[in-house]
Amino acid sequence: MISCIGVGPGDVSFLTQKGAALLAEADVVAGFDAVVKVVETAIPSNSQVITMGYKDQTDKLAEVAALHHQGKRCVVVFMGDVHFSGFQYLERVERACGHVVETLPGISSAQVMASRGRVCFDETTFITFHRRGDIEPFMRHLVHVLNDGRNAIVIPRPWDFMPKDVARYLVDSGVSSDHIVEVWENLTVKEAKWTGKLGDLTGDFSDMSIMLVRALCPMPSQLEAAATK
Ligand SMILES: C[S@@+](CC[C@H](N)C(=O)[O-])C[C@H]1O[C@@H](n2cnc3c(N)ncnc32)[C@H](O)[C@@H]1O
Repeated sequence: MISCIGVGPGDVSFLTQKGAALLAEADVVAGFDAVVKVVETAIPSNSQVITMGYKDQTDKLAEVAALHHQGKRCVVVFMGDVHFSGFQYLERVERACGHVVETLPGISSAQVMASRGRVCFDETTFITFHRRGDIEPFMRHLVHVLNDGRNAIVIPRPWDFMPKDVARYLVDSGVSSDHIVEVWENLTVKEAKWTGKLGDLTGDFSDMSIMLVRALCPMPSQLEAAATK
């Protein structure tokens, strides 16, 4: 048996009970170093732990797949939720195993961002740039999202498309520099927040950051709230 589980955004208290139960029964726990670290207290001392980085992930996942085929109970851990900005890694796990793998949802950094920013999912679009390959279509989509009057929760790309690059691209694409933006770092752990206008977003942030670009016009839920006051 092999499962891919989301372990939440950083603090182990956000790990679901179901995820903790799978870890408690695991013979093998695998994942990127930083993600395994999040759940280290939930891993039994007799479990085999296989950590990996970007460069050795193919070899390490082959090792995990071999143990799975030998009948070991394997759990591969993902930051946040598997289903947001986790599918390229999921595909690598499935390629190594040669079959589709069960996933267990976790609490995404995007959900925590929505909670901190008090925006509802219905009026918000989630976009990640944290992926290999061409991000142009996602960049254009973000422009449409904002022009359609929706909020956007955005995961930047650490190596070349960080919050200030996203802001510059949007303003250069004709999006108003008056959009209010929040950038949050290390949600649930050592949180730090920057708020300001899109046009003023020029600072540097760590890899563990996520952005909320608020819609310019009031959203239906905000109008409703104002009407009932
Ligand atoms: C490959 S993506 C994985 C996202 C994850 N699957 C999720 O649902 O949150 C990794 C990026 O998500 C963002 N991220 C993940 N956890 C975060 C946190 N606790 N605070 C801020 N950003 C976070 C960062 O931009 C990080 O580089």
